[in-house]
Parts: sequence; C-alpha cells; structure tokens
Amino acid sequence: MKYYIDIDNIQNVPKIIEEAIELKKKPYSFKSLGTNKTLVMLFFNSSLRTRLSTEKAAKNLGMDVMILNVNDAWNLEYEDGTVMNLNTAEHVKEAAQVISQYADVIAIRAFPSLTDKEKDKSEFVINSFKRYASVPIVNMESAMAHPLQALTDAITIEELKQKDKPKVVLSWAPHPKALPHAVANSFVSMMKELDVDLSITHPEGYDLDTEIVKDIPVYHDQNEALKDADFVYVKNWSSYSEYGKVLSKDANWMMTKEKLGKAKFMHCLPVRRNMVVEDAVLDSEQSVVIEQANNRTFAAQVVLKKILENLK
Ligand code: CP
Repeated sequence: MKYYIDIDNIQNVPKIIEEAIELKKKPYSFKSLGTNKTLVMLFFNSSLRTRLSTEKAAKNLGMDVMILNVNDAWNLEYEDGTVMNLNTAEHVKEAAQVISQYADVIAIRAFPSLTDKEKDKSEFVINSFKRYASVPIVNMESAMAHPLQALTDAITIEELKQKDKPKVVLSWAPHPKALPHAVANSFVSMMKELDVDLSITHPEGYDLDTEIVKDIPVYHDQNEALKDADFVYVKNWSSYSEYGKVLSKDANWMMTKEKLGKAKFMHCLPVRRNMVVEDAVLDSEQSVVIEQANNRTFAAQVVLKKILENLK
C-alpha cells in the first residue's frame, strides 16, 4: 500500500480484515518492521481514539512517533501564488517537505469547514500534503472520509456477525452541533465492499452524497429500516444538500433499546448520551462501542504494516 487516503486504497478488503484480526491475536509479531522508522501525526482537530490507537499501532510495529497539534505551529497557506500578507505564515509546500525529512509516514487529521462544500470536497489539506510530501500519507479523518474508522467497523462486524450476510443499518441521530459526513461516507463505502445487507435511515434533508450512496436503500421511516437489523450504526451528520446546516434535532430519532431490538449497537465515539443514544443501549451487552474502539489499533496497525512493507 503506497498511502491510505480512502478505502479504495485497499486492494483486497476481506484479506486486510483477516490480517487485522491476526495482528490483534499477535500484536508484536512485526515489531522489527518499524525499527528506525518514524510516524509523524498532525492534528488540526481534537481526537482521543485516533490519536492513541494510531500511536499504539505504530509502537506495536516498533516505530517512533512524533505528534504535532498543528494549531500550536504556524498557520498554513494552501493556495498557490498567494501574497501571504494576512494570517498564514508558512506554505504547505515547505511544511510538507520539511516534515517529510523527519518522518517515514505522515498521518493527518483535518476536519471540514462545513461552510464551503466544494472546498471541503477538494480535500485540500490532505491532498496538498500528498502532493508536496515525499513520504506516504495516512488519513486520520479528512473533510469527507474517515477510512481508519471504516476499516475498524468492518473488522468489528466481521468478528461479531452471526450470519453470512448480516443486515446492517446506518441510522442518523440528533446532535446539538453540525457534524461532518466523513464517518457516514466511509462507513457506507466500506459496507459496499462487504457481504452485508445495507440500508440507511435519516430524516428528509439529510441525504448523503448520492455518488457514495448510489443504489443503497434509504428510508425516512426509522422503525421500518431497523426491522430485523443485526447491526445498527448510529451517527449524526449535518445536511449535505443545505451544506453544514442542522435541519433537525428531533429527539424521536435518538436510538433506544426498544428501537434497537436484538441488534448490536455501533458508534464511532465520542457519543452524546441521551441525545444520540439512550443510556440503556450504551450500558447494555448489545453495545459494541468499546470493542470497536479497541479495533482502531488493529485497523491502524494493518494499514501502517502495509505501508512499511511497501517502503522496503
Ligand atoms: N472515532 C474517532 O475518530 O474518535 P476520535 O475523534 O476521538 O479520534
């Protein structure tokens, strides 16, 4: 693997899931692969899981890790030919080349603005680093994609499924703030690679990008969608058509024990209790969110392993 910007950088999804599950059983079996190799992680935004699990994954492979909270560094410029007489102090052209001298792999988290759809869709932060860096780039959640989370979710479903083709439902939930589409986008894209019966449910006005959803069934009746589900993945996202707007905070869309039925409850975390999902779900045996978060390590580890193997 040359880099991991989106899930289509995975050549064989079932095989990488299998390999991640093997790494989970023997996490230190490739400890020498990352000797004298450094992962630099750049955070433009907050993180708990991605930050710690990716660092753990890199260390399991014997890598050194350096972390930069980019808001503590210089404000970066991304436009070509700009007169930099305002707030930006350093161009990404220099920054990416400089960091490449300290790193063998660069991992980046950079959320969208949720105000300029076309600019967010251009993925200018991660794509600028990809263009100017001389080392592989890993996406730790960009404007429109969270491929490490999606790989985690696929690993979790593969481990826990009790039938060959489980019914998986992605259900929108209310949230007080406008959130990105990255997790939902990557989850849908990843589920299309697995042998699952996928459907999506959300209120009117919350359609995801049609280029991603394509022919996946979409329901505006949440109860109809949830019938006989094996896995229910709950996530808020802001409107995509009225870009970045919160059109509904309807509490009737919160996930409850009654609505969940016998399904496993999935969420990428962090989650707002009794807003997105009620306590009774999160505190039940049906919730697999802690197992999901554990699998973040092995998703990151299998991706870093593939990239390190390609560096040799
Ligand atoms: N799921 C996830 O990416 O968690 P963090 O934002 O805490 O990294």
